[in-house]
Amino acid sequence: MCGIAGYIGHKDADQVLVVALERLKYRGYDSAGIAVIDNREIHLRRGVGKLKALSDLLERSPAPGTCGIAHTRWATHGAPTEANCHPHLSGDERIAVVHNGIIENHEELRRRLQAQGCVFRSETDTEVIPHLIAQYYNASPVRDPLAAIRQAVAGLEGSFAIAVMFADHPGRIIAARLGSPLLVGRGRRSPGAHSDRIAKADDRRRTDGGTPVDQRELMVASDVPALLPHASEVCFLADGQIADLGPHGVRLFTLDGKPEEARFKAIEVTADAVSKGSYDTFMAKEIAEQPSVLARLVDSRLNGGRLVDPDLGLDLAKVNHIVFLACGTSWHAALLGKRFLEHLARVHVEVDISSEYRYRNPVASGGTLVVSISQSGETADTLAGLRLARAKFIPVVSLVNVVTSTIARESNGVMPLLAGPEIGVASTKAYTAQVLALLLFAAQVARAKGLLDATAEAALVAACRALPEQAAATLAGAEDAVIEAADLFAAAQATVFLGRGGEHPTALEGALKLKEIAYVHAVGYPAGEFKHGPIALVSSHLPVICMCPKDALYEKMLSNLQEVRARAGRVIAVGEQGDRHLPELADLVFPVAKAGDDLLQPILSVLPLQRYAYHVARRRDCDVDQPRNLAKSVTVE
Ligand code: G6P
Repeated sequence: MCGIAGYIGHKDADQVLVVALERLKYRGYDSAGIAVIDNREIHLRRGVGKLKALSDLLERSPAPGTCGIAHTRWATHGAPTEANCHPHLSGDERIAVVHNGIIENHEELRRRLQAQGCVFRSETDTEVIPHLIAQYYNASPVRDPLAAIRQAVAGLEGSFAIAVMFADHPGRIIAARLGSPLLVGRGRRSPGAHSDRIAKADDRRRTDGGTPVDQRELMVASDVPALLPHASEVCFLADGQIADLGPHGVRLFTLDGKPEEARFKAIEVTADAVSKGSYDTFMAKEIAEQPSVLARLVDSRLNGGRLVDPDLGLDLAKVNHIVFLACGTSWHAALLGKRFLEHLARVHVEVDISSEYRYRNPVASGGTLVVSISQSGETADTLAGLRLARAKFIPVVSLVNVVTSTIARESNGVMPLLAGPEIGVASTKAYTAQVLALLLFAAQVARAKGLLDATAEAALVAACRALPEQAAATLAGAEDAVIEAADLFAAAQATVFLGRGGEHPTALEGALKLKEIAYVHAVGYPAGEFKHGPIALVSSHLPVICMCPKDALYEKMLSNLQEVRARAGRVIAVGEQGDRHLPELADLVFPVAKAGDDLLQPILSVLPLQRYAYHVARRRDCDVDQPRNLAKSVTVE
C-alpha cells in the first residue's frame, strides 16, 4: 500500500526522503514521487516503476531544499503513470499533497470542483484534496493552512493519511490521519538548541501550550523504519488527529481544532534491524531468523517448566466461543489456532476472513471473544472487523507483530509476536511466530479452564523449548533437496500442495508463498478432498507436494500420495527426517525434524516450503521482496 514520508531539517530533503521511501518499499508500490520546497517554490519529481526511476531522476535533476514530502504509490484509482503519481498539486501549484487511503466520495467532489473551474491532471481520488485545500485557503483572508486542511478533510469520506506542504509556508508540513496509519518522528535535540534565545522561546511556548522551539529534525511517515536514522522518538497519530510540524516543533489537534498533547516515545527499532545484512533479500534473512524468533517468543512466555500468561484483561475461563479474524497468511495461522484451542481447551472456534466478517451480522454470545491476528496490525479489513466486534461489546485480543499498530492500540489485550520488523512482502517469520503464539494462547485458555494439568503443561513447555533448534536443523537439513526440487520444477506452470489435519493450513501457506513470490499457480488442498475433483489435474507435469509427518494421519497421507503416483504425478514428500518409506514413494523428500508435540509440527513443516518458494522465485527471476501487485500492509479495503 502507499507509503508516506516527510522531512523538515537541515539536510537535503530529497536525499533523506529517497532513503525513507526505500524503507517503505516493502509495503508494495508501482511508482514514487517527491516534492521539496525551495525559495517558496514547490519542486516536483516523479517516477513510474521502481524507486530507482525516481532516484535516477533526482541525480540528473536534484530537488533543492530541506523540507519535503514523498510517496510510494500502490495504484487504486488510475494506472501507475507519472500523472497519477503523488505528490499532487493544487491548480496554482502552491500546495502539494501525498495520500494513503481511498477517498470514497472523490467522484462527487471532483465534479463539484470541476464545475467551479478546477482542472484535474490525474485520474486519482487523491487529487481532489489539494484542490479542496486550495479553495478554502485562498477563500480565507487570513490564509491559515491548518484551518484550510481541517475544512477540506471534513468533506472527505473514506480513509486517509495525508501530508501537505504549502509554498507560502516553507519549513512546515501538516499531516492528518483518519483510518490509515501515520506517525511523526523527532530527532535528537542538537547541542546548539539550548542557546539563551531558544531557551527563552521554549519557556514562552511552554506557557502557551505549544511544543518547545528546538532544532530537531522532524519527520512524518507511514511506518517507523522510514524515520530512521534521523528520528529518535516517535508519536503515533490517533485517528482524527492533525499534526502541524514546523519551526514551532510539533503541535497536535483534533480534526475540529482542539489542541492535544503530542506523546513521543523512544524508537526501539535500529537501522540494522531493517537492513538485509549479509543476505541477498529480506525474505532470505527473515526465513533464516526463524529459530531465533521462536526462541525469543518461547523465552518471553516460559519460566522454568511453566507457562507465563500475559495479562489480557479477561477471565478466559468464561470464554466459550472464539472468533479469529485475519487475512492472508495470518488467516492460515488462525486455522491452526482453531485446532489448538479445540484440542487443548475444548472451546468452540470460528475462523473468519476479516473482509467477510465485517460485512455479515455476526452472532455473539456473552462468552464470545474475538481474536484478531495481524503481522502489521494495520490491515484495514481486520481493523474494521475488530471495530465491529467492539461495537457489539465483544472483547477483542490481538496477536500482532507491530505492537504500536492501530489494531494493538484498539484491542482489549495484546499478544506480541516479537518477530522483529518483517520487510519481505511474503510473511515468513511472522507466520511461524503466530502459530507458536496461538499454541501458547490455547494453553493459556486451557489452563484457565482447568484443562491443562501440570504434566501436560511440562511436556508442552519442553516441546516448545526444543523448537528453535529443530527449526535450525530443518532449515539446514532440507536445503539441498529444496534446491534440487526448485531446479526440477521451477518451470512447472502449476503446483498442488496436499495436507491433512494440522498440515492442511501448511499446504495452504505453501501454495500462497509460491503464488505470491514466484507467480506459479498453486493450490493447497485437504488431501482427503483431492479426489473430489482436483485429482483430474494430475499429470507428469504437475508437482504435488505432500505433507507426510508421522502423525495419526500418516497412513492416510501415504494413500493420497500413492493416488498421485498412480496417475504419473511428480511427488515431493515433506516428512520426518529418517522416514524410510518416503524416499521409495516420492521423487524427492524434504526432511523435517520431528517436533516434541504433533501440534507444533506445522511450524517445522512449513520451513522447506518457504525456501522452495524462494528458490523457485529466484529461478524465475522474480523480485521476492516486492512481488508485483502485492502490498505488505493492506490499509485499504
Ligand atoms: C497482505 C500481505 C500478506 C499478509 C496479509 C495480512 O496481503 O501481502 O502477506 O498475510 O496482508 O497482513 P497482516 O499484516 O494483517 O498479517
